[in-house]
Amino acid sequence: MPYMLILGATSEIARACALRFAQEGWDLCLAGRRLDALQAMAQELHDKTGRVMDCAEFDALNTCTHAKLWTSLAGRTNAVLCAVGLLGDQLEARHDEGAADRILRTNFTGLVPLLSMAADTFEKRQRGLIIGISSVAGDRGRSSNYLYGSAKAGFTAFLSGLRARLAPSGVHVLTVKPGLIASPMLEGRDLPRGLIASPTTVARDIADAVRKGRYTLYTPWYWRAIMLAVKHLPERLFIKLKS
Ligand SMILES: NC(=O)c1ccc[n+]([C@@H]2O[C@H](COP(=O)([O-])OP(=O)(O)OC[C@H]3O[C@@H](n4cnc5c(N)ncnc54)[C@H](OP(=O)(O)O)[C@@H]3O)[C@@H](O)[C@H]2O)c1
Repeated sequence: MPYMLILGATSEIARACALRFAQEGWDLCLAGRRLDALQAMAQELHDKTGRVMDCAEFDALNTCTHAKLWTSLAGRTNAVLCAVGLLGDQLEARHDEGAADRILRTNFTGLVPLLSMAADTFEKRQRGLIIGISSVAGDRGRSSNYLYGSAKAGFTAFLSGLRARLAPSGVHVLTVKPGLIASPMLEGRDLPRGLIASPTTVARDIADAVRKGRYTLYTPWYWRAIMLAVKHLPERLFIKLKS
């Protein structure tokens, strides 16, 4: 039976993915910091889809608990989707070492231990799927969110290397780079409304990308073109943009 561990399952994007994958026949383990919210979500998903829903505690900042969690799940898990993320407050993090550290660990280094354990298990088993939700913000550092962006850049590079390592074993790694998605992460921010897509669109695109064996997914699709332009903008122009 296909069984997927979802890290950061309370995220809006993860919720949409959970429903999508459950509808496609996956049983799920919903992992995150808020057990009450996860249990309510599990009940709702079970009622809607009839799939088995388990819940587990996962805090990216508490890496010493990750080995125990993975050991308890490794036997039945054949896919991991990581949707953990923290935009944080860039202004605060400029001068507050603790705030900067939280952004870097939540988006990158705190995710490495568990994904590395999953990689080892799947590599031995010669099959498995790892889906990491990174961000277009990792494609080029912007003045308004370069801590989040640099953590996502690190996460993107980690996933890319993991993919190259695991490909010979038949384990697939998908890197997801969403653009602007309606979720609590963007609440209160002044953003171009027309560019904001729904978590359901992201979930649909991820499920399609898994089916097609894609390596990197920009979602919605037009972000690939936007980021191509952003990445190629000469630095002397880029630094003048209020971005
Ligand atoms: N929304 C966007 O425009 C956008 C764009 C590009 C990429 N992304 C990425 O998409 C993913 C999902 O984000 P979202 O938009 O759905 O935002 P969201 O609803 O704010 O989700 C963020 C998730 O991260 C979890 N989280 C935060 N710190 C954690 C920690 N220390 N340990 C474990 N979990 C933690 C949150 O858990 P709690 O419920 O416990 O807080 C929540 O489940 C993230 O990786 C985000 O960076 C989002």
